[in-house]
Amino acid sequence: MKPTTEPRTPPNTAPKTYRVKSFGCQMNVYDGERMAELLDEKGITPAPEGEDADLVVLNTCHIRERAAEKIYSDIGRLTKGKTQEKAPMIAVAGCVAQAEGEEIMKRAPAVSMVVGPQAYHRLPDMLDKAVAGERATDTDMPPIAKFDALPKRRKSAPTAFLTVQEGCDKFCTYCVVPYTRGMEISRPYSDLVREAQGLVEAGAKEITLLGQNVSAWSGEDEKGRAVGLAGLIRALDRVDGLERIRYTTSHPADMDDDLISAHGEVAKLMPYLHLPVQSGNDRVLKAMNRSHTADSYLRLLERFRAARPDLAISGDFIVGFPGETEAEFEDTLRIVDAVRYAHAFSFKYSPRPGTPAATMEDQVPLEVMDERLQRLQAGIGRHQLAFNEASVGKTCEVLIERKGKLPGQWLGKTPWLQSAWFEGDYALGDLVTVELVEANPNSLAARPLVKVTA
Ligand code: 5AD
Ligand code: SF4
Repeated sequence: MKPTTEPRTPPNTAPKTYRVKSFGCQMNVYDGERMAELLDEKGITPAPEGEDADLVVLNTCHIRERAAEKIYSDIGRLTKGKTQEKAPMIAVAGCVAQAEGEEIMKRAPAVSMVVGPQAYHRLPDMLDKAVAGERATDTDMPPIAKFDALPKRRKSAPTAFLTVQEGCDKFCTYCVVPYTRGMEISRPYSDLVREAQGLVEAGAKEITLLGQNVSAWSGEDEKGRAVGLAGLIRALDRVDGLERIRYTTSHPADMDDDLISAHGEVAKLMPYLHLPVQSGNDRVLKAMNRSHTADSYLRLLERFRAARPDLAISGDFIVGFPGETEAEFEDTLRIVDAVRYAHAFSFKYSPRPGTPAATMEDQVPLEVMDERLQRLQAGIGRHQLAFNEASVGKTCEVLIERKGKLPGQWLGKTPWLQSAWFEGDYALGDLVTVELVEANPNSLAARPLVKVTA
């Protein structure tokens, strides 16, 4: 691909407006929000909807197919036919920046800044350099330093993300995360409790604890005792004004007894578990370097369900891992039926350069992957609809997250993370007790009973 434009030449006007475009996982959404706050602190304001921004931050994800190619076409779209005065200043952030920063700087001269996920607290300084005409790359991976350098949260939506852990030591053979986000690091307990309190003061009612491998979080509580994720969840349970706690994403290897018990004991911990299995076949799981088998995964879920019988289970799947046969894929369909997922994400395997699976023999043809993905998604969809149908008639609380399409209509989430909509005189962030009255594949209609908090 041709370079997109010439590098910018100084002087550059300092940007007045920005837009952060985040792709991929929730951790990127969190990082994107934090970068926006850094830019706010610098006096730059979000570009109004529909208007061009002076600075565009592309906060990239490396997990999906052709992630890097997508960045180049986005850069092309942003700069095509524009003079330097009209074209936005561009920063590339996130995991593609981490993995391919130098390449991006070479191939896309229109990019002024490349900043990795562990270095984005330095974005304001890099921006000053960019205004002075200096292109800058920062893909250092210092442990967790960025969090200390970030501004305090001032405003929060009713649902907020809180990154508690980053990186992953699991080295699943298909995955880039251990290379792009580095080794597992846990943020300190007291920082997290403080940030959670700050988020609640800023308006959050629900906090989702984030980590590539969140169940591996560990720390020391205020008395210096070693605690795992369950200990952190119990501490957040004591934060006044916080109504709901969730966490994602977990690995079966790190789910301990305390976390299982917490699901039965902590009222604020929502009855939802995202626990990727990836495949239902033991040979494939071994080739993926997953440390569980189909059976050990099912037994683990039984223990969670014993602690919290109404638990909604969600997962991730990869179809067409190198060498996957039709019979092996059918084991994946079987595990979907055995678990009865309330929700799941499914992906076609896509080779990531530098990972062991990328050079494995027997890459599965695309048509075969397409066909398997369709069958898998049909299976997941059947269980998701059945789960939603079984919820009809239940009374539960819905946390309002946004307005619906029609006037007076509201959209929120049930404890089981289903989207529910209803009408009435409410506001964002209200927790409304409803009866679930009608199920669709992706949402439920609800009827409000009483308003619980304003
Ligand atoms: N190909 C396809 N899917 C992948 N995932 C991670 N790496 C790949 C890959 N190379 C999926 C896994 C993981 C989710 C976040 O993305 O299912 O759990
Ligand atoms: Fe990637 Fe998750 Fe495996 Fe870690 S546990 S290597 S993040 S798929």
